[in-house]
Amino acid sequence: MNDGEYVIQARDLVKTYTVGKRRVEALRGIDVSLAPGEFAVLLGPSGAGKTTTLNLVGCLDLPTSGDLTVAGHPISGNGARPTEAALDLLRRQHIGFIFADFNLLLTLTAMENVQVPLIWRDATAPGRARQLLERVGLAHRLTHRPDELSGGEMQRVAVARALINQPDLLLADEPTANLDTRTRDEILELLAELSTEGVAVLLATHDHELADRADTVLRIEDGVIADD
Ligand SMILES: Nc1ncnc2c1ncn2[C@@H]1O[C@H](COP(=O)(O)OP(=O)(O)OP(=O)(O)O)[C@@H](O)[C@H]1O
Ligand SMILES: [Mg+2]
Repeated sequence: MNDGEYVIQARDLVKTYTVGKRRVEALRGIDVSLAPGEFAVLLGPSGAGKTTTLNLVGCLDLPTSGDLTVAGHPISGNGARPTEAALDLLRRQHIGFIFADFNLLLTLTAMENVQVPLIWRDATAPGRARQLLERVGLAHRLTHRPDELSGGEMQRVAVARALINQPDLLLADEPTANLDTRTRDEILELLAELSTEGVAVLLATHDHELADRADTVLRIEDGVIADD
């Protein structure tokens, strides 16, 4: 990615799902731009289109129509037709994902979980995993498995895992939904800190209290992002 470029540039994104004969208009023409180091909260009620938005900007799914560029790579619009392999590589090189239920592999230790997304698992991998776990405050939990960790600790492992490929973009879907308020605020603080170090963060939530910490709040309802 070149300096000064947006990490995400999306214009008029539409996503329509077809269920049987019914069409569900999950996104009805949304615009999103996210700059390096920006911490944006995508705020909206259940069914508003938050996860759908993250799936599109995370290149896990393609829009029905609209223009999308992620980390300088054209994904949709202007004749873009990325292959599955290209999308997979782009995700691995540029994007870290964080989920409500942590999605850790239960049989692996914290150190091993952090290394799962690595593209090249060379001799430096364990050292980098250790550094990231130290970075998120888990120096004392390196060899613990998920069932030996608290919810907040599991989410910290997930954050470290999301950082292992030095992403430009962190996408977090309700990352604090399963945490108490104190732990929620700690994870939020960690994500805010990472954004000040240059990572763009897009956090989807229905929790208004999370919006206070954001640089930008994108309010989504019924597949539309309101202009503020
Ligand atoms: N794979 C799918 N097939 C059909 N409809 C879908 C699909 N995924 C989402 N939808 C519909 O699209 C709309 C937006 O869903 P989405 O999951 O993006 O909402 P959300 O804001 O993430 O909600 P929540 O807060 O409950 O997670 C909803 O009406 C949902 O039922
Ligand atoms: Mg959702």
